[in-house]
Amino acid sequence: MSSRDASVHRIACLQTAPLFGERERNLDDLERRIEGVEADLLVLPELFGTGYSFRDRAEALSYSEPAASGPTGERLCRWSERTGGLVVGGFPEVDGDRLFNTCVAAVGGVVRGLYRKVHLFGFEDEIYDPGDTPFPVVEHRGLRVGLMICFDWAFPEAARCLTLAGADVLAHPSNLVLPFCRQAMPIRALENGVFAVTANRVGTEHRPPRPELPFTGHSQILSPLGEVLAEGSGNTPDLLTATIDAARARDKSLRSGNDRIAERRPDLYGPLLFSEAGR
Ligand code: ACM
Repeated sequence: MSSRDASVHRIACLQTAPLFGERERNLDDLERRIEGVEADLLVLPELFGTGYSFRDRAEALSYSEPAASGPTGERLCRWSERTGGLVVGGFPEVDGDRLFNTCVAAVGGVVRGLYRKVHLFGFEDEIYDPGDTPFPVVEHRGLRVGLMICFDWAFPEAARCLTLAGADVLAHPSNLVLPFCRQAMPIRALENGVFAVTANRVGTEHRPPRPELPFTGHSQILSPLGEVLAEGSGNTPDLLTATIDAARARDKSLRSGNDRIAERRPDLYGPLLFSEAGR
């Protein structure tokens, strides 16, 4: 048992530059880059083994794997033993005849949590089924880690659901192409009083009929006040680290004395649940 404070945790985030379709090579490269990393939480990007721009569902299916027993899931399990903590990362997941853009959380060599992307971005709805899982929180060594994927940043409800489920930190595997997430995630962290780790990628994919997609890098580790604790570059792979105190995410008060969570008025938030947006 370590003597460090039980609420203090080491966080790592890997920004990658995968080559489309070169799964073994991408996984081997990543394995080299995390050699020696010890972390209570390591976050990797969305679809980090395969790349992003599948031409169609059949191509994505050819790279898909079951949640826990495929080549990527097995590596995540192995890396969780090596880093000594929770490892979160994404891949195309097949379940019967359904295909999801999924991330899993592995710890101690086994998959402990799974999240299937709910808000599909652009052409993703031609490839994947929309997620059917609630936003999950996985606990390890007293750190409660909420799972969301990339475009979920644009839906504040995702981060809020994870906060209400007890998350101290949002683990956010991403393949970002819009520039806005970098501005939005500090707000998600601030409004919820949680840490956030966005693991993004760099490089460009152009696989017609898909448009050319330059990925934006600038992965981030954020504090519960939206401060940037670590940030990646815009065009190279990077390893980001930070030490965080989960107690900061359990105190939702602001200097004014207000509490961002306790003072909510859900009795007046009915439209969040029942309205047809903007109609
Ligand atoms: C995205 O959701 N991968 C942009």
